[in-house]
Amino acid sequence: MSFVLSVNDQAHIIEDDGETPLLWVLRDRLNLTGTKYGCGIAQCGACTVHLDGQPKRSCSIPLKAATSSQITTIEGAEGEEVTALRNAWGAHDVPQCGFCQSGQIMSAVALLRQNRTPTDTDIDHAMSGNLCRCATYNRIRAAIHDAAAQLGQPA
Ligand code: FES
Ligand code: FES
Repeated sequence: MSFVLSVNDQAHIIEDDGETPLLWVLRDRLNLTGTKYGCGIAQCGACTVHLDGQPKRSCSIPLKAATSSQITTIEGAEGEEVTALRNAWGAHDVPQCGFCQSGQIMSAVALLRQNRTPTDTDIDHAMSGNLCRCATYNRIRAAIHDAAAQLGQPA
């Protein structure tokens, strides 16, 4: 069966039974390997991508359920929030092993697109589904505050 998948503003035709998790379509068929496999059961956030702007766990979404959405991966993420977060991530030396980081960034982008002045509680809530074996949580929180300060309020 053929499915049309919109990823990073490009349409792709995927031959599949529709049950393959979106994560594996992105990684194995489209070579978008910035999105990582951690747990496979929607518990770690390493596989986070955006579906219509919302952070979702791609390991737990079958291909057939993703065809009506605009999908954005870390490779296609852009905009002022992404730029501010990437700058802040570097300034705060957030990445350690790096494995969780694309998922962390995708969740942080979604947060700042809806809340330019997040509190610690807002950040902890938004990021609670993204685990980090290297325990970079304090750096992530500081970097998100820094990015929010860079962005200021929307015009
Ligand atoms: S790999 Fe998807 S949440 Fe862990
Ligand atoms: S930086 Fe290593 S798992 Fe998060």
